[in-house]
Amino acid sequence: MLQKVIRSTVIDAPIERVWAVLRDFNSHDQWHDVVAHSQIEAGERSDQVGCVRSFSLKDGARIREQLLTLDDRQYKSTYCIVEATVPLQRYVATVTLKPVTDGRRTFWHWESSFATPPGMEAELRQMVAEGVYEAGFANLRRHLERGGDLRAPGAAPMPTALPLPGRRIVVPAYGDAHALVAEDHAVPPPGPGEVRIRQRAVGVNYIDVYLRRGWIPGLMAPGGTPGQEAAGSVVDCGAGVHGFSPGDRVAYLGPTTGAYCSLRNVPAAWLVRLPPAVDDELAAAVLLKGLTADYLLQDLGRVRPGQRWLVHAAAGGVGLLLCAWARRLGATVIGTVSSEAKARLARLHGCEHVIVTPDYHFAEAVQRDFGGADVIVDGLGVAAQAENFAALASCGHWISLGQASGPLEPVSPDALVMKSASFSRPVVFAYIATPAVLATRAARLWAALADGSIRPPPIERYTLDAAAEAHARLESRATSGALVLLP
Ligand SMILES: NC(=O)c1ccc[n+]([C@@H]2O[C@H](COP(=O)([O-])OP(=O)(O)OC[C@H]3O[C@@H](n4cnc5c(N)ncnc54)[C@H](OP(=O)(O)O)[C@@H]3O)[C@@H](O)[C@H]2O)c1
Repeated sequence: MLQKVIRSTVIDAPIERVWAVLRDFNSHDQWHDVVAHSQIEAGERSDQVGCVRSFSLKDGARIREQLLTLDDRQYKSTYCIVEATVPLQRYVATVTLKPVTDGRRTFWHWESSFATPPGMEAELRQMVAEGVYEAGFANLRRHLERGGDLRAPGAAPMPTALPLPGRRIVVPAYGDAHALVAEDHAVPPPGPGEVRIRQRAVGVNYIDVYLRRGWIPGLMAPGGTPGQEAAGSVVDCGAGVHGFSPGDRVAYLGPTTGAYCSLRNVPAAWLVRLPPAVDDELAAAVLLKGLTADYLLQDLGRVRPGQRWLVHAAAGGVGLLLCAWARRLGATVIGTVSSEAKARLARLHGCEHVIVTPDYHFAEAVQRDFGGADVIVDGLGVAAQAENFAALASCGHWISLGQASGPLEPVSPDALVMKSASFSRPVVFAYIATPAVLATRAARLWAALADGSIRPPPIERYTLDAAAEAHARLESRATSGALVLLP
């Protein structure tokens, strides 16, 4: 008959700190007193599912255990004994963490089932329950205390002095989607003013494609990590950080690349808090794109009732949010998309008038049916340059947001004067330059989601390691809504 052992405790440290230790399958010789020495076989990573740790106990016993599952979202791992000099047979154990509601403490549940030789049931149950689990709880507490991370009530959160293992995507040389390569790395403790974040969802934006292709070398040199936004929770805070604590749910967008990773240090000034209704994936799907829609509507385009807005890629990440929000604010919204399926989705999200055109022919319809566009939001670039100018109404405003088809040819002032038109080439980061402005825009975005002005977009999910697949899909024009990477 299978024996079962269940033990649990509460550790006086945030879940991220406890998990940072426990998710490392080779950490136990650093904190558990009974373990003498441990190593991962075959040079594999210590958080790689399937890896085997081979360790000796101080009493001379030898054990090989295999990591079966590791879930950073559920804070849960499972492992089994594959070979041991102790008579534990068919041993499978699960470690699960849950945050205690005050956010500062962690509930740790440890359970296992195993068979034993006849007559040894009670002895081995006691050995596992007390010698392994209860002792492990006490030993991990002491380990965290030594690391300086267990806090007296009211004391300031301290960063752990340790680098923590992470995974990231790098671009060794600019190129197509295959230029995105996954690797392990160590993330140092956060510096002054920084926060170390365990990222659970990373937003994919079209700018990531430009960076990977080498179109903006000043922003990302070869060897760099793309990505401008992510959501997750705070692991620890550097000196001088106020207002954030380990365990806080946050998201960020920032002008420095590097978000395609599992763990990252970012300036605290980039962070926004996430309301309970916005989960990590939704936050990564809408933060940068939604704040872009916000500055376009509120500041650059100054939306008003009856104004004619022409929005390209109306079923895309920015497009869906912008069309819905512009319409809610009274604009007449005209969207372009490349397929009937995208047209249906764009209409569902509030785009009133949809033009289906895979090859950038829309100016004639816009002039004929609406008399031109007052504001054009153009992420298409060179392939639609002439059509966009032709679609502009007198005194219209052409906002060049991006260049999915390639960089624009220079825009001549002499051409603009023919329509008394204006031309802008904005970047979202200039419109969230202070924490106060960022907080105001984020609050408007969460409110718009809550009151139904905008709807959550469809989200395509990829593992972090499958970033190349996500890029290939985005570039193929096959996607609608947002894409996120799940580290
Ligand atoms: N400047 C800023 O502040 C800022 C901020 C965010 C985004 N952006 C820009 O806004 C645009 C939309 O970004 P996003 O991340 O939301 O992407 P997205 O719209 O989800 O994806 C790009 C879309 O562009 C359309 N497209 C047209 N020609 C294309 C081509 N040759 N190659 C690839 N796609 C083409 C496709 O829609 P159809 O198939 O329907 O044509 C495609 O789905 C991008 O240009 C991006 O750079 C700028």
